Amino acid sequence: MGGGFGERARLQVPAPRSDLSEPEPVVSELDKPKRDLEVPGDWTYASAPESRDIVRIAERYGHFVGGEWLEPAETYETIAPRDEEPLAAVGQGTRADVDCAVAAARAAYADGWSSLSGSERAKYLFRIARLLQERSREFAVLESLNGGKPIKESRDVDLPLAAAHFFYYAGWADKLEYAFPNRRPRPVGVAGQIIPWNFPLLMLAWKVAPALACGNTVVLKPAETTPLSALLFCDVLRQAELPPGVVNIVTGDGRTGAALVEHDGVDKIAFTGSTEVGKGIQRRLAGSGKRLTLELGGKAANIVFDDAALDQAVEGIVNGIYFNQGHVCCAGSRLFVQESIYEPLVAKLQRRLSTLRVGDPLDKNTDIGAINSAAQLEKIRELVASGEQEGAEIYQPPCTLPEKGYWFAPTVFTNVAQSYRIAQEEIFGPVLSVLTFRTPEEAIEKANNTPYGLSAGVWTEKGSRILWMAQRLRAGVVWANTYNRFDPSSPFGGYKESGFGREGGRHGLEPYLEFDR
Ligand code: NAI
Ligand code: MG
Repeated sequence: MGGGFGERARLQVPAPRSDLSEPEPVVSELDKPKRDLEVPGDWTYASAPESRDIVRIAERYGHFVGGEWLEPAETYETIAPRDEEPLAAVGQGTRADVDCAVAAARAAYADGWSSLSGSERAKYLFRIARLLQERSREFAVLESLNGGKPIKESRDVDLPLAAAHFFYYAGWADKLEYAFPNRRPRPVGVAGQIIPWNFPLLMLAWKVAPALACGNTVVLKPAETTPLSALLFCDVLRQAELPPGVVNIVTGDGRTGAALVEHDGVDKIAFTGSTEVGKGIQRRLAGSGKRLTLELGGKAANIVFDDAALDQAVEGIVNGIYFNQGHVCCAGSRLFVQESIYEPLVAKLQRRLSTLRVGDPLDKNTDIGAINSAAQLEKIRELVASGEQEGAEIYQPPCTLPEKGYWFAPTVFTNVAQSYRIAQEEIFGPVLSVLTFRTPEEAIEKANNTPYGLSAGVWTEKGSRILWMAQRLRAGVVWANTYNRFDPSSPFGGYKESGFGREGGRHGLEPYLEFDR
């Protein structure tokens, strides 16, 4: 990091040709290099940090219940993963706190929210969407600081998509009868929502927007490592004048989540997180009559055929696995390459990897930020070590990692067998496993050889092959000649151990509605 020409940053022009033995190419007057300008000899990026002055972080936060801040009985410290700087003391929600929040949500539900007309509910959702847009820089900085993701991603992906989600569901709020003709939809009641740390505000939007659009009230628990954007969101709710108790936020770790799952006053649980915890929640709720949707892990296949545009595919592979440090449930973590293009593709990929910049999440040049937590870093290291032990070949581009904080270099494993743990288990880090195939049938067989089924990617020039593949891949989302594209109108969710239920689109309304017929 840090460019060598900061002191003499002047107009950057191409270096003059020193080799005069060949005739100079004909160039227009305008294109001719101006030799009197100083030319930088070092092309490393100068750092371009985003200022954090726009965000005010309080020293201490309580739980947001019934429109007010509830003093927490216990607190813990939330930190910045880039350097372990303590950011704030945050409440560790107890059963009693969850109880208060559920009571507030129930009261708000009965006291007008559930019977409010759809067009009135939509007004609040539109306001929230616009406020998120207005305050997006503030939210983006906070998201990167507390979660470790590069500012260019929080700024260009998380925030626009979170706002888009509220806009989208605002549009449905007064059209539910048309979304489900002849079925008389009505709200479910109080929704308990538990979200992970990889897209803190975006996952909040995915959960809160459809719930409110359908007339439910909410108790949401953010992940323990990334509570700050959800707490700032409470200020947006205040600005939007959302009636108190419609959205309540209780922070804390898995114990707080478990208390919410077990609470008798909750009618529906929506969970995004690990498959292990998801299975536990499903067991816990069996027979309770509580509604449940689960969005769990993945081990997606990103499949490249020999007729694909290779440079474009390399960009898609990089976006598929290094986006958000690979902390993505639908990450393209298993790359399947058709044998005939294996060598050129891997060479291109390795060359591309060496241009990725790992470092400060608040630097606008950063491609790969900090790993979210010490625990996640430990998990990545352990799985990577198992890959080396089992016999895979590791490649990491030369890069200097910051000394403080949690970091992991972008990694590619070749020579991977399907049985290796790195080909089976979700790593949730910037680690790609490369495998090969010869025929489309073999690609399908191998791609589906996983307990998960959240997403997949197909790279080929042939439209017919895309359709053939999409029909056979057991995955909730199949991207063709692109990867990690999201839109609020498009449903997202999994098969098998990736969970059930859909978020986004008209499908995303259903989990928050009861039907009289
Ligand atoms: P986790 O499943 O423990 O945490 C996700 C959320 O669930 C957090 O808000 C957490 O506080 C809550 N939680 C934990 N235990 C709970 C319980 N017993 N009852 C109710 N809520 C509970 O995931 P964790 O430990 O943060 O990450 C472990 C692995 O899970 C990751 O390495 C990754 O492989 C996977 N994961 C997948 C995600 C996805 O988007 N599908 C998101 C986060 C993690
Ligand atoms: Mg856990």
